[in-house]
Amino acid sequence: MIKVGIIGVGTVGTSVAQILKDNADVISARAGTDIVVKSGVVKNLNKDRGLGIVLTDNVDDILNDSKIDIVVELMGGVDEPFEVVKKALKSGKAVVTANKALLAYHRYELAELAKDIAFEYEASVAGGIPIINALRDGLSANHIESIMGIMNGTCNYMMTKMTNEGVAYDTILKESQELGYAEADPSFDVGGYDAAHKLLILASIAYGIDAKPEDILIEGIENVTQDDIAFAKEFGYAIKLLGIAKKDGNEVELRVHACLIKQEEMIAKIDGVMNGISVIGDKVGETLYYGPGAGGDATASAVVANIIDIARSGKSTPMLGFDKPMEANLTLKPTADIKSKYYLRVNVSDKAGVLAKITKIFEDNNISVETMLQRPSSEDSANLLISTHTAIESDIQNMIKEIEVLDFVNSTPVMIRIV
Ligand code: HSE
Repeated sequence: MIKVGIIGVGTVGTSVAQILKDNADVISARAGTDIVVKSGVVKNLNKDRGLGIVLTDNVDDILNDSKIDIVVELMGGVDEPFEVVKKALKSGKAVVTANKALLAYHRYELAELAKDIAFEYEASVAGGIPIINALRDGLSANHIESIMGIMNGTCNYMMTKMTNEGVAYDTILKESQELGYAEADPSFDVGGYDAAHKLLILASIAYGIDAKPEDILIEGIENVTQDDIAFAKEFGYAIKLLGIAKKDGNEVELRVHACLIKQEEMIAKIDGVMNGISVIGDKVGETLYYGPGAGGDATASAVVANIIDIARSGKSTPMLGFDKPMEANLTLKPTADIKSKYYLRVNVSDKAGVLAKITKIFEDNNISVETMLQRPSSEDSANLLISTHTAIESDIQNMIKEIEVLDFVNSTPVMIRIV
């Protein structure tokens, strides 16, 4: 029999305990042994969770319990869980976590510590979708050319509602918080950080790239308005927050930002709170993974799968899927060098000569306009909605700086990259 201790019996922890009970028949058959939760750590001992497991408010009760084989870390945060997980590994206990922030900062140290002990984290990326398993095992024969996906359900839910129902940004953010999709601090979702943590984990498995959130391009959906959505619809695009990892020669670009993506692309069709990730391997071609990226049962499904795997096999796979550098010369591409097509929204005073001055700045920065629309936004101002041919990020950033200081430009231009 395998005994589990859960540190953090909240929504996901409760689901883990419940699934281990509800599905004990298949779980036991697949694991080759029974799996039970021996105890759980909670902050508030007075709240009855109806799970019939021993509860404590002291993490050491689990870490020092020699009968516990697997520690499930569901505390959230970075520093505290890092200490807890290190202690668990040092005392020889296997660890399963859903904590993407912990991994975004400490995955390489943990991989080192977990050399002989199982450390699994399927639920940290895209909740119930077995994307870690797919990348680390199912696609392990491939060089990974790209990973591109919707990795944050909150943003996808918001963008879907804004697009399909014309709902305002603030209204829909509040609704997604009430529905329980959003992180405790929703700026983590809408600012792109949650998706970035997930992207960094996937990029490590795919490329062995050791980047931190501070090293990569992270933008959110805070500036997307109905004007942008109208432009997107008119030109056959959807707007999605995407995490992108792409190999280009010996460089890997890693970025999270709102994207205009052609409506006919599979990723563009993924709506609501769902997540969807496309992975292109050099041998397999494109594969697509779709499913619930959040929610107690969906996330716990991935946690329990890891528990079963550990119960079955003990330790076999290296934590990040490799033991020595995979592609020795790969480096992170500087953000300034990224190439993309771009969309810009510039709010200007609607008077003679403005358009000519704006397009002159485009020319000066080597940027070629592909499409342009002008929409009045008040009696004497208008939004210029412009898309470009492929350009270099540093040129676009310079151009935005030059445009935003012009006296007839009313606010900082909004830019969305086109994929
Ligand atoms: N806040 C996250 C999301 C939850 O919206 O996808 C899962 O990580």
